[in-house]
Amino acid sequence: MEEMEFDSRIVAPEYSANADDMENSLRPKTLQDYIGQEKAKENLEIYIKAALARHESLDHVLLYGPPGLGKTTLSNIIAREMGVNIRVTSGPAIEKQGDLVAILTNLSEGDVLFIDEIHRLPRTVEEVLYPVMEDFSLDIIIGKGPSARSIRLDVPHFTLVGATTRSGQLTAPLRDRFGVLLRLELYTPEELAKIVERSAGILGIEIEHDGALEIASRSRGTPRIANRLLKRVRDICQIQFDGVITEEVARVALERFEIDELGLDDFDRRMLKTIINNYGGGPVGLDTLAAAVGEESITIEDVYEPYLMQIGFLTRTGRGRCVTKAAYEHLGIKPASDNGQITF
Ligand code: ADE
Repeated sequence: MEEMEFDSRIVAPEYSANADDMENSLRPKTLQDYIGQEKAKENLEIYIKAALARHESLDHVLLYGPPGLGKTTLSNIIAREMGVNIRVTSGPAIEKQGDLVAILTNLSEGDVLFIDEIHRLPRTVEEVLYPVMEDFSLDIIIGKGPSARSIRLDVPHFTLVGATTRSGQLTAPLRDRFGVLLRLELYTPEELAKIVERSAGILGIEIEHDGALEIASRSRGTPRIANRLLKRVRDICQIQFDGVITEEVARVALERFEIDELGLDDFDRRMLKTIINNYGGGPVGLDTLAAAVGEESITIEDVYEPYLMQIGFLTRTGRGRCVTKAAYEHLGIKPASDNGQITF
C-alpha cells in the first residue's frame, strides 16, 4: 500500500515530490480533454488555430491564478497543440543572465519556453528577456571595462509561456510584453467532480458520481488537491470498505483527514480562529497574522486566502484581513458584538 500522507498538509496545492508522477499521468494532453477554465480554453483555442493557419509561433502567453489550477498542464497542451517542443524551467532556477542565454540559444523555431513562477526571475535576467520577447534578439556583452563590446544574436521565434500566482507580482515592463493574458479561476465542484471521475478512470478506481462530488466539494476549487484526495480516499476505501468510493466512503475518509465539508483543514480553521480570538475578527495586517500563525505572508496570500475569500469567509480591506459572519457561523463561534469591532 502506498504511504499515507497524514503528516503533511493534504490540501496543500503545492507539488510534493512523490505526488508528481501521479500528477503527470493524470494531466490531460489536449484542450479537448482539459476540463473547466472555459474562457481561457476558448481564447487559447482561437489563438492557436490562428497562429497555426499563419504558420507562425504563438504570441507569448501569461497564465496567472492560484497554485494547482493547471498552469503547467496548459503550457504542455499549448506545445502539443502547436506541434512543438517544450522546455520547462522556473524563475528561481534562472540565477544569472548566462543561464537564460544558454536556454534561449538551445531553442528551436516555434518552441515553447515555460517559465514557472516567472515573477521570481532576478531583475538582471528579466532585462535580458525584454528585447528577446519583443524582437527575438539577444544583446550580449562580451568582456569587461573599456574593451567590452555588445553583440547582438538572433534567437528562434519561440513562445514564452510564463506562469505566476498573481499578475500583480510581475513588473509592468514584463507583463506588457505578453500578448495573451489568461487568468485561471478556481474550479466549481461540478468541474472538479468530472476531473475526479476522469482521474479515477485512469487510475482504475471505482467511484460513484456522488463520491466524486463529495471529494470535489472539499478540494478548494483545485484539481491538484482533488486528485490527491482521491488517492488518499482510495487507500481508506481499499482497507475499510468494499472498494467502491461512494458518497459515504468519501465522507468518512475526508473526516478522518479533518477536512471539513467546505474543504477547510486544520490550518484554515486555526487562521480564522486566530483572527477571531486574537484580533476581534479583524482587521489584522497580513504580516501580523502571518507571524501569529507561523506561516509566510506570501503563502497566506497565494495559497490560503483565495479560497477563503471565494467562499466568503475572509475579506481583504485597506486596514487588514477580516473574518466574515459566515465564517463565524461555520466555526460555530458567536460574534462578540460588544467589543465594537464587529461590523457585519
Ligand atoms: N487534471 C488536472 N487538471 C485537469 C483538468 N483541468 N482537466 C482534466 N484533468 C485534469
